[in-house]
Amino acid sequence: MSIIFPGDEKGVVKAASLIKSGNLVGLPTETVYGLAANALNFDAVAEIFRVKGRPATNPVIVHVHSVEMAQALGDFNERAAILAKTFWPGPLTIVIRASEIVPTNVTAGGTTVGVRMPNHVLALKVLQASSLPIAAPSANRSEGISPTTANEVVRSLGAMSPPVLDGGACIVGIESTVVDVSDNTVRILRPGAVTKAQIESALDEQILIGGSSTIARSPGQMLRHYAPNTPALLIDDWNAITVPPNKLALLAYSAKPLETIEFVKTIRLPADPSGYASGLYAALSELDQAGVDRIVIETPPKTEPWTAVLDRLNRAVAPVRRD
Ligand code: TXA
Ligand code: MG
Repeated sequence: MSIIFPGDEKGVVKAASLIKSGNLVGLPTETVYGLAANALNFDAVAEIFRVKGRPATNPVIVHVHSVEMAQALGDFNERAAILAKTFWPGPLTIVIRASEIVPTNVTAGGTTVGVRMPNHVLALKVLQASSLPIAAPSANRSEGISPTTANEVVRSLGAMSPPVLDGGACIVGIESTVVDVSDNTVRILRPGAVTKAQIESALDEQILIGGSSTIARSPGQMLRHYAPNTPALLIDDWNAITVPPNKLALLAYSAKPLETIEFVKTIRLPADPSGYASGLYAALSELDQAGVDRIVIETPPKTEPWTAVLDRLNRAVAPVRRD
């Protein structure tokens, strides 16, 4: 019997009761599927880390159904309020100073917590039905490709997978933007669908990209992340392409022909950043299972709207960590 269960009213009740009783559930959001648990239950959150194989040094984000719920979790300051008003529900995680009710494994021992109101009807209904803040990192094994369908959750977590609420394919397709407003310098810790320009316009101030050197707390900042098992390479100059004579798969976005090279499998994603992001992880996963030696990726335009996609692609091609 499948551990994937339908995203209907009964499914919502089941997901909420699993969370209330301290168990895990695979939860759809508009970005990627989350591995969800009661964010106020230390043991339940510890189970998230175990199932993901996630280093304890990486904090998990907490999902909320309202600003009031976020306010209980920490210092939801003026900037946080503006960002929530502008972008919630949506793909923006706001890092604030954490209150004492947040378990230490949620914050990875730090002083801050990331909070987000997801823009997905099922996620919001489960949050309402459980009346609990829900901790949920992406529902993949650490370093793997984030799942954008219920099947991908089960494929990534295998025998460790909890029951998964089926919400269909995620529309955004890549993880939320993470913005830190916990001190006076606002920083984007992870690019996503909400762009730097949009945040600057909402806050009416300039912000920085990247964490301060004293904080090493975003696994999204680890170099190899969101990666397929098959080695992948990014091709910048489509005319001067030289690849070893192996079995190759191609991830493209343009219609440029490549008659000189034979690809076992080709996937062409839409040529706009949000369409591309929406299909990215499913495409990478499919090419990863095509039995090739290498995945060749046509580099998208190096322009602002493509920032989040380029970030994920650069991580996908990073060499395997040896530690
Ligand atoms: O779209 C998303 O954010 C998805 C869905 C499920 O909501 N979740 C997700 O979670 O991608 P995860 O754990 O895979 O990534 C959360 C990111 C990580 O880069 C983490 O380090 C960062 O948010 N983060 C969480 N809490 C933080 C904190 N207190 N300070 C800095 N970064 C934090
Ligand atoms: Mg993740």
